[in-house]
Amino acid sequence: MSKIPKHVSIIMDGNGRWAKQRGFERLEGHKAGVESVKAAAEFAAENKIDFLSLFAFSEENWTRPQDEVSGLMELMIDAIIGERKTLLDNNIKFLVIGDETRLSETLISKILELKKITSSNTGLTLIVFLSYSGKWDILQAVTKYLEKARSSELNNNEPLSAELFETFLSTRGIPDPDLLIRSSGEQRLSNYMLWQCAYTEFYFTDVLWPDFRKNDFKRALDIYSERERRYGKTGDQINKIK
Ligand code: IPE
Ligand code: IPE
Ligand code: MG
Repeated sequence: MSKIPKHVSIIMDGNGRWAKQRGFERLEGHKAGVESVKAAAEFAAENKIDFLSLFAFSEENWTRPQDEVSGLMELMIDAIIGERKTLLDNNIKFLVIGDETRLSETLISKILELKKITSSNTGLTLIVFLSYSGKWDILQAVTKYLEKARSSELNNNEPLSAELFETFLSTRGIPDPDLLIRSSGEQRLSNYMLWQCAYTEFYFTDVLWPDFRKNDFKRALDIYSERERRYGKTGDQINKIK
């Protein structure tokens, strides 16, 4: 593998279908998906990827049946407690991004605890997107920007640039994803990092998330390393830079 992306993001999809295929409840698919999270985090750490972000629960997912939502939230708490050792053993720093106001106090306290005990880790940064949507992110950034502009902390004559705007996004400080993987055969963004994926490479696989393992991750990286990222330039210009 020649080109290792700095930031890989995964839309972990297909848990429900995986469970259905086996005649299980949907929640069993979500539970099985935790093992895939562990494999992906280990793979990313082993391959010196700096940032791995995982879309775990979208703003729209709040509209699912109540028992699935509460089951998923309990599972998040269990996973945070259960995966503590994996994170510490692999020198992984843990972060969560999303609308925290909708999360339970217990979940928030577990998140804070894990963030704290992994804060001095220097290897992979693992970011879980929870209660997140791309439109929510852009709107909260605009709101924060306007608050600052009104309180004249900003120079109002300066036009708003992409660089300045990005400091208000929930992902500030994190490089944009180089590669976005989506499992389960769906080929859409589902309101994920809309701004941040402007130049991201996409990789879609039919593998359902609970079946996703290190070899599937490796395949995605192999395909990624064959891509030519042009950022609007011509292929000749890119080859000159190389
Ligand atoms: C992804 O799996 C997990 C979440 C969205 C929380 P799904 O639950 O969406 O699984 P499918 O798409 O129904 O198979
Ligand atoms: C996207 O999956 C969100 C997560 C994987 C967390 P969904 O299953 O909710 O997306 P849609 O509804 O099929 O677009
Ligand atoms: Mg789905």
